[in-house]
Amino acid sequence: MTKKIVSISLFISWTILVIFITAGLFSFGNKPNQSSSGVQPNKTTPVSSSTATAGNTSIKSYSLNEIAKHNNQNDCWMAIGGKVYDVTSFIGSHPGGERAILSGCGKDATNAFDSRHSQAAFDLLPQFFIGNLNS
Ligand code: HEM
Repeated sequence: MTKKIVSISLFISWTILVIFITAGLFSFGNKPNQSSSGVQPNKTTPVSSSTATAGNTSIKSYSLNEIAKHNNQNDCWMAIGGKVYDVTSFIGSHPGGERAILSGCGKDATNAFDSRHSQAAFDLLPQFFIGNLNS
C-alpha cells in the first residue's frame, strides 16, 4: 500500500516537473522574440531621429560668394560635388603640388578635382568638410 502511494506521488511530482520544464522552455523561447521585436523599432527610431536632428542643426551651407573670399594659401576653401571643404592645412602636403590645389581655392573645383584624382583623394575629403554648397 505504501509502495503504491509512493509511486503515485512520484508520478505526480514528475508530471508537475515536466509541466514546469515545458512551460519554462516555452517562455524562454518567446522572450528573445519579444525583446528582439521590441528592440528593433527602438533602435531605428533614435538613430534616424538623431541623425536627422544633427543634419538639420549642425551642417552649415555656404554660397559661392562666401567661398570666393577664401581664395589663398592661408585660407583656402573649395566646393567639390556640392560640399564645401577648408583644405588650407592640406596645401603643403598635396601630392599634386601646391600650385595645382591652389588653383581651386575660392571656387567650385568639382571638375578639376573629379578629373584628376583617385579614390584615395576622395577618401581624404571628409576630414576637411565644413558645410554644403548653397544651391
Ligand atoms: C582644384 C583642386 C585640386 C587640383 C587641381 C588638384 C590636382 C592634382 C593633380 C594634378 C594631382 C597629380 C595627379 C597625378 O599624380 O597624376 C593631384 C594628386 C592628388 N591630389 Fe589633388 N588637386 C586638387 C585638390 C585636392 C584636394 C582637395 C585633395 C584632398 C583633400 C587632393 C588630394 C590629392 C591626392 C591624394 C593626390 C595623389 C593622387 C591621387 O590619389 O589621386 N587634391 N591633385
